[in-house]
Amino acid sequence: MLTSIKTHSLTNEGQKLGMMYYRVAIILFGAQLLMGLIAAIQFLAPGFLFELFDFSVARMVHINALVVWMLYAMIGSVYMMLTEETGHEGVGLGLGKLGFWVLTAAVTVVVLVYIIVQVGSGSEMSLWFIHEGREYIEAPRWADIGIVVVVLIFYYNVFMTYMAGERTGIMTVMVANLLALAGLYLAGMFYTDNITMDQFWWWWVIHLWVEATWEVFVGTLAAFALIRLIGAKREIVEMWLWIEVLMLFGSGILGMGHHYFWIGTPEYWWEIGALFSALEPVPLIAMFVHVLYDWGKEQGAHEAKGEPLGVITNGPAMAWIVTNAFGNFLGAGIWGFFHTLPQVNIYTHGTQFTAAHGHLAFFGAYATILIGMMYYGVQKAYGVERMKATFKSKMGIILVTFGVLGMTIALTIAGYEQVMVERGEMGATWNAFFTAQNLPWYIQAQLWRTIMGVVTFIGFIYLVWDLLTIGKNAQEAEA
Ligand code: HEM
Ligand code: HEM
Ligand SMILES: [Fe+2]
Repeated sequence: MLTSIKTHSLTNEGQKLGMMYYRVAIILFGAQLLMGLIAAIQFLAPGFLFELFDFSVARMVHINALVVWMLYAMIGSVYMMLTEETGHEGVGLGLGKLGFWVLTAAVTVVVLVYIIVQVGSGSEMSLWFIHEGREYIEAPRWADIGIVVVVLIFYYNVFMTYMAGERTGIMTVMVANLLALAGLYLAGMFYTDNITMDQFWWWWVIHLWVEATWEVFVGTLAAFALIRLIGAKREIVEMWLWIEVLMLFGSGILGMGHHYFWIGTPEYWWEIGALFSALEPVPLIAMFVHVLYDWGKEQGAHEAKGEPLGVITNGPAMAWIVTNAFGNFLGAGIWGFFHTLPQVNIYTHGTQFTAAHGHLAFFGAYATILIGMMYYGVQKAYGVERMKATFKSKMGIILVTFGVLGMTIALTIAGYEQVMVERGEMGATWNAFFTAQNLPWYIQAQLWRTIMGVVTFIGFIYLVWDLLTIGKNAQEAEA
């Protein structure tokens, strides 16, 4: 992928820009994993890097890098599909490139401040220049404003290209959804000293991103990818897409109530949160069925014409997208449903159970399909007709997926132990918290999580190695 800076055969400026976003995304993904490993070791050896690089800092960089790399990969994917969907070469992409460099410079400064300065004094100055104290979206205010400006440029590129070109259903959903996705960021920017109000609005960003707008985004990517990779019929994938949009917004918006159980909001949120969030797995099942159904249908169509089965133009991309269908359903749908009813959440809230769900959901729903799109980008960059999975592609997907699944199971066991001992037996006292954390079941689970984290990281190395080489090799093989 990096070598594609020089050797790529892309002629479209938007797709070149997409590749630039992908490169930064994969670097930040690597940084995320390293930070996760540090934080995981600190669970086992609390003295590790104490006062040099505390758990709170490693955790903060881990989850902020996660959000930022995903946003980079999402923007990259939009630039990747823009011209192909609209049939237009792209409006104002020079400005878009400038935006990329401004954003990347800002992200670099912010990360350096996180790593070197680490924490502020809890004053206005910290809010402006260090971080905001808002989990997942810590960017200090100066960077927040910069992000808004760059996103406006990005949106201008997308919207004007859409208006100038062909307006497919996929792009219509994309354009409308991106407006909501970007607009929600504003809800996490203003300051109030009432912690309940602060959390209330902060969840508008976090929950309405991952359980509404990001899910719709993934739906559009899957629709696009299925057309490109297996030649799925546009009418069918677009019909699915509209149904998914309806269902995702239907359950996702009020489903936000499942974060209002504990923050001091009125009690009617218990019922609202319970009902609507329990419905959230329904669209996720639909998305799962959609991908597999379309795939099966295309296979059938090939068979009927007497063509060889499995005409997939990009093997690794398709493998990651199928993993997405399973992962989204499992991580968000099943692991989310586990603790979404208040009757259950009263025991699980704040245990490692949440972390188990957080890992499998972010990985299954987003990391997978975004990696799939990176493979699509590489295929375009090298102009190859058909890109088959290599040994490295297989090692990458197997080790990363196995690693994250392993971490999820380990954390689920740790969470179960906390629910049993800390909450059930000992009544959730301060003392109970520490007793539960020192029992062998918990410590063993944390050990396994760290081991599985290392497996994930080895898989990541294969993945990067593959992304860097697969395009060139496929090109040579085709020639
Ligand atoms: C891809 C979609 C999803 C992602 C990425 C995701 C991710 C997360 C993350 C990271 C947290 C922890 C937040 C924190 O730090 O406090 C969380 C909390 C939670 N999620 Fe999800 N989630 C998704 C979908 C769902 C769905 C569909 C459900 C329900 C069916 C669900 C139910 C919950 C609940 C109940 C909590 C709160 C746990 C607690 O604080 O006790 N999630 N989610
Ligand atoms: C090398 C692999 C990884 C390791 C060792 C690791 C480790 C950790 C640790 C120690 C935490 C802090 C948990 C806590 O506060 O109790 C954490 C949080 C988190 N990580 Fe990872 N992680 C890894 C990979 C990933 C991946 C691949 C994703 C998603 C794509 C991810 C998403 C998250 C999220 C969303 C949280 C916050 C969860 C919450 O508070 O509920 N991590 N991780
Ligand atoms: Fe949620």
